[in-house]
Amino acid sequence: MQRRDFNRLCSGLFAGAAGFSKALSAGTQPFPRSALVYDDNTPVTVDSLEPGSSCIFSYPFVTTPCFVVRLKAAAIQTDQWHGGAGRDNSVVAFSAICSHKMSHPAKPISHINFRSDVISFYDRHGEKQEREQLISCCSERSVYDPANGGVVLSGPAPVPLAAIALEANDDGALIAVGSSGTDQYDRFLEKFGFRLAMEYGVSDVRARVGDQTVATLAQNFSSQQVRC
Ligand code: FES
Repeated sequence: MQRRDFNRLCSGLFAGAAGFSKALSAGTQPFPRSALVYDDNTPVTVDSLEPGSSCIFSYPFVTTPCFVVRLKAAAIQTDQWHGGAGRDNSVVAFSAICSHKMSHPAKPISHINFRSDVISFYDRHGEKQEREQLISCCSERSVYDPANGGVVLSGPAPVPLAAIALEANDDGALIAVGSSGTDQYDRFLEKFGFRLAMEYGVSDVRARVGDQTVATLAQNFSSQQVRC
């Protein structure tokens, strides 16, 4: 069986078991379910996230950082992307590893950040744009749209950010269940593993997160957020 077929089969099985067909859409690679919690162990719910705010959490590995973002409006569901979670489809999650050269949030500094405020950039046609609610990587100025599958709006990033599939239960509590798109987990862990082990205080950087993963407000995760 080809890997893609296997993934689709697994997606169907997981979705059927959980009763959520949306998060694990075709093309999503299922990973063990992990509930997002704050550091006091309370669940991260849709309502606990301010519209326009973002947190960092690890998934699917203990050292691979992701964004969870509460957008100010519903995300767009596409054939390639499952869209937003929550009753208003406003919560999205993406790998926080830039698809260009893997810039990512580190504890001392982050060059890649969700920007709720208006930023300006030049689009693929060289036109200047000013928009809010985007993910901006200031390493070489790639800009991604989290409301539209993490597509690249500007800069050298070759592909969208990998998307993290989220479910929201009846109480709005958020659970990460899989990953879709071009992820760079292997390359990332190989390149940065030594530093990640020290930064996260783990001996196995490839360990999967458990049934819970801690989400930290992005402004508290990194001591410095570079904005451009
Ligand atoms: S690493 Fe993000 S734009 Fe180069």
